[in-house]
Amino acid sequence: MTDGQVGRGFSPGVNDGVGGGYPGETKRWVRITTTDKIPPREGRAVCLGTREIAIFNLGDRFFATDNQCPHKGGPLSQGIVHNKRVTCPLHNFVIELASGQAVAPDEGCAHSHPAKVENGTVWLSVRQAAATPAE
Ligand code: FES
Repeated sequence: MTDGQVGRGFSPGVNDGVGGGYPGETKRWVRITTTDKIPPREGRAVCLGTREIAIFNLGDRFFATDNQCPHKGGPLSQGIVHNKRVTCPLHNFVIELASGQAVAPDEGCAHSHPAKVENGTVWLSVRQAAATPAE
């Protein structure tokens, strides 16, 4: 996938300018898709910049993690979603969706990203480096 291209017809990229995050970084909310494009208990991948992020619909809530399993980089968006967790399709690591932490076995963590739903639209909060000062 290339930047801005998302699995199965998403078109991310709108920014509402929310700030925050670590020193030297800013955060912004990015519109990803409408809620009906991700069926309940399934995940989809989206490319944002150089990152591929997995977005999961748990029915009443959406979660997002990097789309790389902490074990050997398996595509978490293609895993089986169950009980606020996803099982990696490659070797069955179980990842807690809220934190990205591998819980079975307890080895590694996928970076998680805040997600929210407003008026039927899924948004992700993503970090971006602060502008580099001119020299
Ligand atoms: S790559 Fe996910 S369990 Fe091995």
